[in-house]
Amino acid sequence: MAGRVAIIGAGPSGLGQLRAFEQARKAGAEVPEVVCFEKQSDWGGLWNYTWRTGLDEFGDPVHGSMYRYLWSNGPKECLEFADYTFDEHFGKPIPSFPPREVLADYILGRARASGVRPQVQFQTAVRWVAFDEANDRFEVTVESLSDKSTRVEHFDYVIIATGHFSVPNMPDYEGFSRFPGRVLHSHDFRDANEFAGKDLLVMGSSYSAEDVALQTKKYGAKSVTISYRNRPMGFGWPDGIEEVPGLLRMEGKTAHFADGSSRDVDAILLCTGYQHNFPFIEEGLRLKTSNVLYPPDLYKGVFWIDNPRMMYLSMQDQYYTFTLFDAQAWCARDFVLGRATLPSQEEMHADVDKWRARQDGLEDAEQEIDFQADHIRAVLEGTDYPDFDIEMTKAEFREWEHHKVESITGYRDRSFVSPCTGSKAPVHHTPWWEAHDDSMQTFLATKE
Ligand SMILES: Cc1cc2nc3c(=O)[nH]c(=O)nc-3n(C[C@H](O)[C@H](O)[C@H](O)COP(=O)(O)OP(=O)(O)OC[C@H]3O[C@@H](n4cnc5c(N)ncnc54)[C@H](O)[C@@H]3O)c2cc1C
Ligand SMILES: NC(=O)c1ccc[n+]([C@@H]2O[C@H](COP(=O)([O-])OP(=O)(O)OC[C@H]3O[C@@H](n4cnc5c(N)ncnc54)[C@H](OP(=O)(O)O)[C@@H]3O)[C@@H](O)[C@H]2O)c1
Repeated sequence: MAGRVAIIGAGPSGLGQLRAFEQARKAGAEVPEVVCFEKQSDWGGLWNYTWRTGLDEFGDPVHGSMYRYLWSNGPKECLEFADYTFDEHFGKPIPSFPPREVLADYILGRARASGVRPQVQFQTAVRWVAFDEANDRFEVTVESLSDKSTRVEHFDYVIIATGHFSVPNMPDYEGFSRFPGRVLHSHDFRDANEFAGKDLLVMGSSYSAEDVALQTKKYGAKSVTISYRNRPMGFGWPDGIEEVPGLLRMEGKTAHFADGSSRDVDAILLCTGYQHNFPFIEEGLRLKTSNVLYPPDLYKGVFWIDNPRMMYLSMQDQYYTFTLFDAQAWCARDFVLGRATLPSQEEMHADVDKWRARQDGLEDAEQEIDFQADHIRAVLEGTDYPDFDIEMTKAEFREWEHHKVESITGYRDRSFVSPCTGSKAPVHHTPWWEAHDDSMQTFLATKE
């Protein structure tokens, strides 16, 4: 088959895309040349943990936003690869909330089994993607980071899998510039031990705020004050964590909040989210969105409507993760292979409008989960991605939400059933709140 496909990024989304093509090739399909460009030295995306913050060894912004002692914040059953189950990878059922190293091992286990590593060019950053109308193809400028050489390659399809949790959203508040301590974004947070014995201010009211607050307290922070902008998370926080309304200003080390209260703090952690940032894509192809469940201009959440040979993976806010990425990867592959066609531009716009109108009416997390599950179902339609029980994952996500309300320090001690194999996860041997050692060896060990 003629044509070339560029995949940009070898995180879970890009690796899923490589696997989707490889699976078709192994099944006898004619598959075009697929090249994956990855700027890091290894694959795994955010799961490829780095101690670095700021700039990487080549002077590029560090991609990694993960920190030590990070455990899955959702049940692993809701993100299981339907074509490579946890039972298959680990040879036995494992608990539902694995630490980062364990999930990384699972992601990379599938990637290795796919045999796609030769298709990835590491330490190769994509610097510019443009569409050449005259020749009806994409021009992709890449930089080989080790020798700083650049070259232009041509492709018929470009698939953006660069993630959107790497460029921090950094708000400024009055008094930050005179604050006599550290102000850092969760993107640069690495080791909670650094904050032992300190009084902390955590800004934000989403997953990072929740997890960084719990994590720093677990590893010895003296107190954690979480300041929300719109709504509190409202969990039953353990002693030493408290939620307060928005920050008005800092005066020295004193934080003043909208309810008139104030606290002295030693450090400020901005858990204020990330920006979708694609400076390497020409404007006519560049997605512009905030972190929402259904970004604009992408049919099925994947195809850039103005030029659908340009595709994006995983640009949504994420309840579902790997399952969502796989669905999109299989759908993108089928379009490239000519197995699926797209409707007219008007129909694609109308479809996106319909989804976005529904998105605007969503009222709570349960409705958002149902919405994303429906999106996955719509994307998977007609593909050969293996069946899994998506209704079960919806029910499990709901249960998980309730568990969090029951106990924010205890929800990770619960266990769920696999929607792929039906096997029930064992309960982890140590309650998460007491488990300071997050190594794979300890996690997988059976308690004597
Ligand atoms: C702190 C944190 C914790 C999380 N925890 C969980 C969790 O517990 N469970 C879960 O399911 N999800 C979690 N996530 C969500 C996460 O988004 C997904 O799990 C997943 O990593 C997304 O995969 P991706 O491939 O789309 O993007 P990424 O993992 O971000 O990978 C993108 C890849 O693209 C490469 N790249 C970027 N730009 C270029 C370029 N110009 N040229 C070449 N290569 C480039 C990067 O180096 C990177 O390897 C978490 C996210 C964060 C920030
Ligand atoms: N495994 C884990 O345990 C773990 C841990 C951390 C993160 N994650 C993942 O990482 C991803 C990103 O999560 P995230 O929490 O970083 O981002 P997010 O979900 O986009 O949330 C951003 C938060 O920042 C707040 N915010 C934005 N601008 C602000 C401002 N100027 N002042 C105050 N608050 C502001 C927002 O407030 P409003 O709500 O008021 O808009 C929101 O609460 C998610 O997919 C999550 O699952 C996972």
